[in-house]
Parts: sequence; structure tokens; C-alpha cells
Amino acid sequence: MSNFEKIQSRDKEYVANTYGRFPVAIVSGKNATCYDADGKEYIDFTSGIGVNSLGFCDDGWIKATTAQLSKLQHISNLYYTEPCGELAEILCKRTGLKKVFFANGGAEANEGAIKCARKYSFDKYGPGRSKILTLKNSFHGRTVTTLSATGQDVFHNYFFPFTEGFEFIEAGDIEALRAKSAGVCALMIELIQGEGGVLPVDPKFVEEAAKFCREKDILLIVDEVQTGIGRTGSLFCFMQYGIEPDIVTAAKGIGGGLPLAAVLFGEKTESVLKPGDHATTFGGNPVACAGAAEIMKRLDGEFLSKVAEKGEYFREKILKMPHVSGVAGMGLMIGIELADGIKAADVVKKGIENGVLLLTAKSKVRLLPPLTATYAEIDKGLAALEEALAES
Ligand SMILES: Cc1ncc(COP(=O)(O)O)c(C=O)c1O
Repeated sequence: MSNFEKIQSRDKEYVANTYGRFPVAIVSGKNATCYDADGKEYIDFTSGIGVNSLGFCDDGWIKATTAQLSKLQHISNLYYTEPCGELAEILCKRTGLKKVFFANGGAEANEGAIKCARKYSFDKYGPGRSKILTLKNSFHGRTVTTLSATGQDVFHNYFFPFTEGFEFIEAGDIEALRAKSAGVCALMIELIQGEGGVLPVDPKFVEEAAKFCREKDILLIVDEVQTGIGRTGSLFCFMQYGIEPDIVTAAKGIGGGLPLAAVLFGEKTESVLKPGDHATTFGGNPVACAGAAEIMKRLDGEFLSKVAEKGEYFREKILKMPHVSGVAGMGLMIGIELADGIKAADVVKKGIENGVLLLTAKSKVRLLPPLTATYAEIDKGLAALEEALAES
């Protein structure tokens, strides 16, 4: 029995089988290179679905988290800790937003944003202005409320009754936004629909929607769970769209591998949630925040422009590969459009055989490499990807 088979057989017996998995057990890694339980090497173009911003086991991140770990691992948000405030200060100063609520994952961050939007409207206008518009084909999480917010019918099954008060408009359809705006407290959008297939939302629509929302006092919530923390070549993707959201949510890459998420509130929303309105036991965990502060310090202008450059490098190389009809996305959030009836899942399977870890997003092969991937790692991974495409 291989080491993998031993790991898999116990897992099969004891771990709830609620998600599909690849037949690989990863045991260690450094930057964008990792190893499975039987010693095979892979280049990682997934970052654990956009989480490991600085790759595997980054020295600075390990130092920051372990230094905090050996002092105080947790105390709850009933008490103050230094890393939580330090991280919040960095986030506010770098985004222009005013206050931060820390949570543990993307869905939970979006729940916080939704609660804030509804309370903002309730406080100002009374009951009945609680509807939230989101985009068709969006993805906002897997809690009952964030499933409701997700604009894909496939997610609206089994778990009835879903939370009321969500309606969907087509990305790009400004008239639909206008037509559906009665009783609406917020518009919640991803700027690049990640799970929906790496689809950037039209900047003109975003600009017009932001303007309309401001005029009508409809809050603009930008879900940056996948696009945030340097992924698209700027600290947050909204910065490239030239808008000023009222609420921004972040998760995945902010913790660099530890569970952490943030809801960033702007001027209108910074004081809406009052003591007792919202909290979470692990929120602002000092170890996760210390690691995140290290990530934020590393993501300076020079680092971010390198992310954009690497993204261009990926695009240029991938466009020349077999069965590729296009490349979507921004920075290191990359969606490969496949031609000739090639299936993304088959490319991912072949990728594993050839030593590269890849993701899918609908019909596309999706890449979310660590932001620190070296050109040597990128070249190695791209060679394996090219082989996988050729064999599919
Ligand atoms: C845009 C977006 N929002 C929310 C989520 C949910 O995040 P989490 O899985 O951390 O709850 C995801 C996860 O893929 C996402 O891509």
C-alpha cells in the first residue's frame, strides 16, 4: 500500500464525503513547490484556492506567526491584542476604508457585510428596505444566507427555506439595476467572478452602478474574497476599477494559510454595527492577524507590480499553448478558455500526472498561483501545463 493509499483509506472511513477530491495527499511545500506523501514533486498553481499568498511555508510569515504563537495563541475578542489592531490599521490606511471587523472565512465575512447593509438601511429608513441585489453567476459562500446571495440556481436546492431578500441582475445590465432598485439596501458584487468562471465585470457597468448606488444611498459591497490581497496586481481589485465601495470583504489570501477574513467598512458603514450586534469567537485571532500583517507589509507597490508582470508572463505563454482559445482574468487570477471540446477537469487530471496543481472554474482551467512564485517555478509549471493540454 502506498503512503497515499493509507492516508486515503482512513480519510474515506472517517471524513464526511461532502466534496470531490483528487487522489493526492500533499505533505510539505516551499513557495510554489510541494511534495506528496510518496515523494512526487508538484508546482502549485492553486495556492490552496487563492489562500497561500506567499506560497508554502514562507520564512517571514512563519516567523511572524510562530513568534505570536509562542506568546499568546488566542484570548477572544473580549480583550485587546496587538496584532488585530496592527492589521486593521494597515488595512484602513492602505484602502481608505475606516474600520475592520475580523472573521474566519469568506462566507462569514459576507454575512457580516449583509448584516451591516440591512442595519444601515433599517437605522436610516426603518423596516422594508432590506433587499440586496447581486449578480447572476456570482458566488458568495455556502452558508444559507450567502447561498441565497449567490446568483446561480444550482446552489438553491435542498436547504429550504433560504434567506429571503436577494434578487439577481445580469452583470453589465445597468437598466436592470435601476428597474429593481426599489426597497434595495445594497448591491453586492465580485469584480471578477471567480467560481463563476474567472469573468471580469465590465468596468463601465461598475462605474455606472457605483454612481447610481451613491445617488440612491444603496450601499456598494464588493466581495474581494478571491480578488483581494494582491491577487489581481493591486492590493484590492476595486482599486483598478476606480470606485469607492461602502463595504469590502476579504478572506482567502489575507491569512496566507490560517483562517482569517475581514469586513472593511467605509465612512457610511463604519459605525452601523454596535456592541452586541455582531461578533465571532475566533475573530481577530492574534496568530492569524500577525501572519496577515506580515503579508500586508510584503505586498508593497513593487511586489504588486511584479504580480501584474507575472500575470502578463503567464498570459503570453498560455496563449501559445495547444487547445487554448483565450485567457481571462487579471494579475495572477487566470482563467484558461479551452478549444476543441477539451474538458477542464481532464486537463487538471493530466496536470497532476505531469506535476502541476491546477483548478477549474466552470469550463475554464483556473490558475491562482502563489504571488511569490518564482519564474523558475512558473516555467516548470507551465511546461507541465502545456504537456497536460497537449495530452487532453
Ligand atoms: C468571491 C467569493 N466569495 C465568497 C467565498 C466563500 O469563501 P469561504 O469558502 O472562505 O467561505 C468564495 C470562495 O470561493 C469566493 O470566491
